[in-house]
This record gives sequence, structure tokens and C-alpha cells, in this order.
Amino acid sequence: HAADAHRTDLMTITRHVLNEQRRNPESRGDFTILLSHIVFGCKFVASAVNKAGLAKLIGLAGETNGEEQKKLDVLSNEVFVKALVSSGRTCVLVSEEDEEATFVDPALRGKYCVCFDPLDGSSNIDCGVSIGTIFGIYMIKDKDNVTLEDVLQPGTNMLAAGYCMYGSSCTLVLSTGSGVNGFTLDPSLGEFILTHPDIKIPKKGKIYSVNEGNAQNWDAAVAKFVEKCKYPKDGSPPKSLRYIGSMVADVHRTLLYGGVFLYPADKKSPNGKLRVLYEVFPMSFLMEQAGGQSFTGKERALDLVPTNIHDRSPVFLGSYDDVEEIKALYAELA
Ligand code: AHG
Ligand code: MN
Ligand code: MN
Ligand code: MN
Repeated sequence: HAADAHRTDLMTITRHVLNEQRRNPESRGDFTILLSHIVFGCKFVASAVNKAGLAKLIGLAGETNGEEQKKLDVLSNEVFVKALVSSGRTCVLVSEEDEEATFVDPALRGKYCVCFDPLDGSSNIDCGVSIGTIFGIYMIKDKDNVTLEDVLQPGTNMLAAGYCMYGSSCTLVLSTGSGVNGFTLDPSLGEFILTHPDIKIPKKGKIYSVNEGNAQNWDAAVAKFVEKCKYPKDGSPPKSLRYIGSMVADVHRTLLYGGVFLYPADKKSPNGKLRVLYEVFPMSFLMEQAGGQSFTGKERALDLVPTNIHDRSPVFLGSYDDVEEIKALYAELA
């Protein structure tokens, strides 16, 4: 509709989160401030990703002449660490790119812990395929006594989680624990606008997503599930296979179209590949908030309690019925 092009009442992500927080009488706007710093990080990375192919020619934003080109994942990590620390609302940061957790200087400390993967899907950077940023947010227990225990918590304790996908458009998907909403970056405004309100994943999907090159090392339940996707015995049509190799993009498609994404354990990697704090937990939180499920092969993924910040876990997430089927196979075959 022509009038839509002139809409003057857009729901920006800040406005949306302010509305959500207004329902909580204790809210002081801290979460809104934290989120606006995360959004800044996403916009910075979106801009750098768009210029990635030109990096050798023009240099990436934020770099001085003559300095060696930083890898995009290293650059993204620096951007997010600086944005999160400078928000004055964070306390402990866990990043895929940093071996140790970062404890924020006491003068700048706030009550939130953020676990993040600044650039996920890095093998896809050089060929221009979608990549993303993933984040999960906790709150500290005791302001005067901040330890690693504040992030080594089950996923059920997360307050919020989200991801930003740098794809054909730039999409930020967020849950603060009351459903899932998607926002698309309007590059001319520099704002994320609510485009996908209250996302619900289809109850059953037509797609499965897995790195099938690992099939020779799978356990019986995974092998049986994929076999059933390809050769269903109940008269239903076979499922389609889609696998991008960027978790953010594979999960985003799963959320919108339905189906199941799996990164199982195999004989070579008994805990799978994906990391609990900043890959498995945030995506599991979003899936559950959208009406789907997430399973580890043993338990509900959000019930895991990590013992180390870079712990890994197998994961099966997506449409409710499809994950139910995987759970049944594990119950039968494990
Ligand atoms: P990262 O780029 O942050 O290291 O993560 C890559 C991950 C994830 O995005 C994806 O789902 C998975 O690796 C793909 O792994 P395979 O190449 O083994 O399929
Ligand atoms: Mn990396
Ligand atoms: Mn990753
Ligand atoms: Mn990464």
C-alpha cells in the first residue's frame, strides 16, 4: 500500500523494548540501554560485513592506514566487547573469541552478564553467505561478589537472548522471555524496525538441517531420524535438506519455515561442536519462546548446567513435533 511508504509511526526495537519493560514496575531502563549497545554492535558488524570483499581495497571501518587487516571475527569481537563494557550495564562477558571471561572494571559495572558469539559462521565470510551474531543475557546474583558462577547457570535462568543475521537483509531476532520478535534493519534510517511480530515456529516442518558429511560417525538415533526424513514409512513426503553451515542462518530458516536443525554428537566429537553458553542456550531459548523445542539427546537443552564457559553440547532444535520424534528415537535406541 502506498501509504505504508510514508509510515511515521514505526515500531523501532528501542520503542518495542521500552514498551515491554514498562510492564515491569522495577524497570529502570537498564536493559534498554544494554540492548541499544548490542544493537550498535550489530550495526557496526553489518556495515563491516557488507564491505568485507572490499576490505583489501579500502580497509575496514575503524582501522588506521597501514595497520594489518583484522579478521572480521576478531574485529567483531572488539566492537562488541567495547560496546558492552561502555554501556555501564555489564559485569561479566563471555565471548567465543576470548579464552577467558572478561570481568568489567568495577567503576563501569552493571548487573548483566552477556555471553556472545560475535561472528558465527565464519567459514562463510569469504563467499558472501549469511553469518550472524548470537547473544544470551543473565543477571548477576550478588553485585558485591561477582564470579564465573554468574554465567555457569542453566539456560532456564537466561533473561533474554537473540541473534542478528547479516543476510540478504539484516535481521535481529529477540526474546526477553515473552515471545519472539524479529526486526529488520532499515539502512536508510539506521534503525531496526519490527517486521516479524510474535514469531511462532510451525508445529511440524518439512525441512531437516544437518552436516550429513558426518553421517559415518553418528549414533543410531540420529542415523534413524535422518533415514526417516529421507524414506518416510508413514506415507508422508520426504523432507527437504537445507544446510548453510552458519548456525544463525540455519536456525533463522528453521524458526520461520519450521523443521529441525541438528548438530549431534558423533564418534569424533562426543559433545558435538556447538558451544553451550553462546550458541546452544540462546537458540534454545528462542525456539522454546516460539513454541518449538530444543533437546541434547539426553535432556531439555536449557536444563544443562555448564561447568566451563566454552563447554559444548549436541543439540536438536526446531518444530515441536519433529523434536518429539527425535526424543522418541533416543528413548528407544539409546
Ligand atoms: P563459528 O564460525 O562461530 O566458529 O561457528 C560455526 C558453527 C556454526 O555456525 C555452524 O552451525 C557450524 O559451525 C557448522 O559446522 P560444520 O562445518 O562442522 O558443519
Ligand atoms: Mn572465530
Ligand atoms: Mn559460532
Ligand atoms: Mn564465532
